[in-house]
Amino acid sequence: MTNKKRVHQQVSECSVNLSRYKSATQRKLTSSTIAWSIFFLLLATTSRLFAQNIVTIPVETAKNAMVLQTDKDGRLGIIYFGSRLANNKEYAAIPNQYNLKSDNLPTYNSAYTPAGTWNVIEPAVQITHADGNMSLDLKYVGSDTKKIDANVSLTSILLKDPLYATEITLLYKTYFKENVVEQWSVIKNVEKKPIRMQKYASANLYLMGNDFYLTHYNGTWGNEMKPEEDHLSHGIKSIDSKLGTRANLLEPSAFMVSFGKPATEDEGKVLLGQLAWSGNFKIDFEVDNYNNLRLIAGINPYASEYQLAAAQEFTTPAFIYTFSSNGKGEASRNLHHWATKYRLLDGEGSRLTLLNNWEATYFDFDENKLVDLFKGAKKLGVDMFLLDDGWFGNKYPRDADTAGLGDWQENVKKLPHGIGYLVKEATAAGIKFGIWVEPEMVNPKSELYEKHKDWVIRQPNRPEKYYRNQLVLDLVNPAVQNFVFGILDTLFTKNPTLAFIKWDCNAVIYNAYSAYLQKMGLPQSQLYVDYVKGLYKVLERLRAKYPTVPMMLCSGGGGRVDYGALQYFTEYWPSDNTDPVERIFIQWEYSYFYPAIASCNHITNWSKLPLKFRTDVAMMGKLGYDIVVDKLSEKDLQFSQQAVATYHSISDLVWHGDLYRLVNPNQNPLASLMFANAEKSRAVVFNYLTNTRFMPGATPQPIQLKGLDATKNYTVKEINLYPGTESSLQSTTVYSGNFLMTVGINPDVDLERASVLLEVNEVK
Ligand code: GLA
Repeated sequence: MTNKKRVHQQVSECSVNLSRYKSATQRKLTSSTIAWSIFFLLLATTSRLFAQNIVTIPVETAKNAMVLQTDKDGRLGIIYFGSRLANNKEYAAIPNQYNLKSDNLPTYNSAYTPAGTWNVIEPAVQITHADGNMSLDLKYVGSDTKKIDANVSLTSILLKDPLYATEITLLYKTYFKENVVEQWSVIKNVEKKPIRMQKYASANLYLMGNDFYLTHYNGTWGNEMKPEEDHLSHGIKSIDSKLGTRANLLEPSAFMVSFGKPATEDEGKVLLGQLAWSGNFKIDFEVDNYNNLRLIAGINPYASEYQLAAAQEFTTPAFIYTFSSNGKGEASRNLHHWATKYRLLDGEGSRLTLLNNWEATYFDFDENKLVDLFKGAKKLGVDMFLLDDGWFGNKYPRDADTAGLGDWQENVKKLPHGIGYLVKEATAAGIKFGIWVEPEMVNPKSELYEKHKDWVIRQPNRPEKYYRNQLVLDLVNPAVQNFVFGILDTLFTKNPTLAFIKWDCNAVIYNAYSAYLQKMGLPQSQLYVDYVKGLYKVLERLRAKYPTVPMMLCSGGGGRVDYGALQYFTEYWPSDNTDPVERIFIQWEYSYFYPAIASCNHITNWSKLPLKFRTDVAMMGKLGYDIVVDKLSEKDLQFSQQAVATYHSISDLVWHGDLYRLVNPNQNPLASLMFANAEKSRAVVFNYLTNTRFMPGATPQPIQLKGLDATKNYTVKEINLYPGTESSLQSTTVYSGNFLMTVGINPDVDLERASVLLEVNEVK
């Protein structure tokens, strides 16, 4: 069953439970009315009835809890967010400890703030009813928690407007062991005519505390994931995207919120979150008059009013978050454990090492040159060759990024014998073959554009504006969805052994306008949302037919990395910037949200830093090359061959081990991090000098390791040495885990030894 179907089934199972709950509540109400008339004067009974009106709903994981509670009017608020209490009966007593009630202030802690009635603060949901009325009030109807399996539960809470027939279900899917929550909402139009939604958030949290620090990220091409930490002051700070596609080009929805003081790697309360959505998003962080933090996360309401026909439902994307009281390291490991087990495609599997030809050839290649490169891949010992951009287009050959996009036929000049020949030759060379596509986009200089202008997102009456000389196809249109699916389906049908897809997406949406929505009489304001839904439909269909083939999520570097898309992809491309020092910082920040197995790291000639440094950095994820192997010196080739073999020997640790960050390069001239296996018997430690502007001398202090067993004994051996160099470390000394984690080990990093890889092995 696909993820989506599973979710639908869970949601409908919940609605069944909710209707059972509703009739039970009705029965209870009738009997309590009788009881009321009989025992009217009995104070004890009266207070008991009152107590029954208050419903407390804990949403718990192994370590954390968010607790919701109705007030005397049946409105649902959040009364607690943080570490789980030992006795969950005590949650009900929390509100008495807070003075959050004032007749002159809104109810800041609403679990899903409706607009237009009594709450005059930033709403989570804003609706115009069929009769034009813009008010919404939400009251609790019932709730249900269902165990999906031993680890996963789904709590659904039904809220209803007492006046208008609008139903909203809040859903909380908890991953107990991983301490991760997926939260979303379903809005149902129970009116007889269409309603319009101006805002429809996935989640509305309320975090109690006094000082909050927000870490968010900005970036551009080649400069992804630049962190900034702000102390949140009163008012609203938002992070958002209005780019449509390549939505994370300027900032992703991934963020961290520290409570009280900035969390460190191992200390402090911190929440890591993101919207699992590959389009426009908005997350509002509002410090209220009580100094608590309201958080509203969802699809960006900007230019996105959405119409719901009678009886139609809208399911928002999930807001995914984890909370830790022990710092960012633990929080990030929570996400890694969750993602590899439940979200990332084949997260617990293995990955293919590869040789890519993008930086090696750009558009300048033909089949002979490629077949020559295959030999290089084999020589290196990698699993696969990945053919990048430039293999298609005939009337408008794809010889530069100015033409040909959209015309997915092999260019007869470069590839006279087609892709089939390349696949055959790769197989003969003993490697697999993968290919680049950018199926959502079109160059105006293409046959596709000439034939299907109506498939292109463009304002018919305005001059076109291009991003990287291209435009975006209208994936709202089912004919375009079929076309995009067809590109991949044809490639796989013609070449059943095709082993890998790199799916790129280089442009943002300019001049948002869909000819299809116009034709269907639907509002243009649905374009941004229906585009992403169209994209997911195609990916869903693709995965139904090709469930396992690995696919890399790429968007002109890291312009689209999110857990909405990653359920269909095995990996992502963090940045086109492959300078290893830059990459240490970029990979470091991504690593808070995504496991290393998903991070594609390639060795290129972008930087002149030593090959060893570049290789070590690439090893902290999924290793790839983008070089001409024949141009390597003999020593470099020898080193690289050994490095690929070494990588194979440690990849299990990198892909499936626990990541511990040891020295943060944002605060030191060094970066150090390690991956340890669950048994704590083996680990690999990566150490780098990140500041080469001056000669700081060898690392003066040891680095304390983490994630080992204090009672076990280990040896520490330097690996991945460049031929002809010797390690300055003693590999036979036996250290206790206690020593390595308390005193630490000095990797002896200096200008000559700017990157040092250590393998830690238990000695029995
Ligand atoms: C984008 C990708 C690159 C490469 C080029 C090809 O920029 O990020 O890796 O595939 O497109 O045009």
